[in-house]
Amino acid sequence: MRPSDLRPVPDVARAATQDLLQAIRDADAARGRTVLCLSGGGTPTPIYRALRDHRDLPWGRMWIAWGDERMVPPGHGDRNERAARDALLDHVPIPEDQILPWPYVPDADPQDLADAYALQLRRTLGDPGEGPWFDVTLLGLGEDAHTAGLFPGTGGTRAAGLAVATRPTSTPTPRLSLTPEALSASRQVWFLVAGDGKRAALQATLAGGDPERLPATSIRALDELRVYTDAPPA
Ligand code: 6PG
Repeated sequence: MRPSDLRPVPDVARAATQDLLQAIRDADAARGRTVLCLSGGGTPTPIYRALRDHRDLPWGRMWIAWGDERMVPPGHGDRNERAARDALLDHVPIPEDQILPWPYVPDADPQDLADAYALQLRRTLGDPGEGPWFDVTLLGLGEDAHTAGLFPGTGGTRAAGLAVATRPTSTPTPRLSLTPEALSASRQVWFLVAGDGKRAALQATLAGGDPERLPATSIRALDELRVYTDAPPA
């Protein structure tokens, strides 16, 4: 992430929605499908709600994955899948087999669930080294500088492979996350950074440093990385 990636905007969700509509149409025109990797958190929710009003989008050729998930059962209110289903997926005609939620098995080893998701994405979307998994990956940034389920000091950015389970001390349940390698297997990576509380984390991430302290520094895009923000560093 570099200062030239910043897109200072008055309303992050509104700006990203407009651009996402175009990115979906472009991906569909170029390749006959669109693969989106969604983020949790509150910032993208208005985007998900706004998209559902666009009945003309190529919903039947859209694929949905998530960059991270909480280790809670399907339907649980803390689940990123649930938030995206409530705001968007329950309202649009995406075929259910093109929606790829993280697995959940009670009492499973979290890393086994992470590995199972990586395998599922590899089987469905191919080898990320040979062609990008995602057209657009949406990501957030926490005040502690975490992104997806990659929290500072949890080893997430150093994990080998495509998905990892982390155990941040700040969260009650393990977090399941794609690794920087997998999140970077994307043509476009868009960070959505809203609110003054994020300014310091954004500034630190832009300045760069140890990825274990600043996980977003380890994520790249194949074509373009953008940082939509209403709190650009001074
Ligand atoms: C999640 C996330 C997480 C989120 C940030 C920012 O599952 O919560 O994917 O990384 O994007 O915490 O969240 P806000 O958008 O709520 O600020």
